[in-house]
Amino acid sequence: MKVCVYPGSFDPITKGHMDIIERASKIFDRLIIAVLVNSNKQAAFSLDERVDLIKACISGNPNIEVDSFKGLLIDYMNQKKANVIVKGLRVVTDFEYEFQMALLNKNLDADIETIFMMTNSKYSYLSSSIVRELASLGANIDEFVPEIIKNRVLDKFRVGKG
Ligand code: PNS
Repeated sequence: MKVCVYPGSFDPITKGHMDIIERASKIFDRLIIAVLVNSNKQAAFSLDERVDLIKACISGNPNIEVDSFKGLLIDYMNQKKANVIVKGLRVVTDFEYEFQMALLNKNLDADIETIFMMTNSKYSYLSSSIVRELASLGANIDEFVPEIIKNRVLDKFRVGKG
């Protein structure tokens, strides 16, 4: 059984993440979306919110699950008996950081592979931070987040709210 982990902050999940999730879930028997419990980075959405938003977007797909982790990704992979990490690559600047992480993780555990998926070109400029910025400025985010969570994302940034 090939178990793949898609790790990230997902603050919040975007259509770019969904594209990777849908494609990876067709390749692996089981896909675990693992939300990082950010320890040194302040997230806009709480861990529970980030997990709930993802769950709302993937409901109905039995081979995808949502979980959270803290500490080393490699330790989490071993705990879950997962063999593959999937990451999305958008632009060349992603590559340097991702390459470093992949080599580091390989060094920590040679049995775990990192694979990269090129993002759909429609989403090559999209990131959670862009979604947060647009939402905080009251812009339309229809193109960037799944419809089912759009209002929850906008609500977060409405004046007078968290
Ligand atoms: O969506 P992000 O913020 O780019 O995701 C980064 C993530 C969660 C994949 C990365 O920070 C990570 O794997 N963190 C866990 C800690 C770890 O294993 N770091 C590598 C060794 S320093």
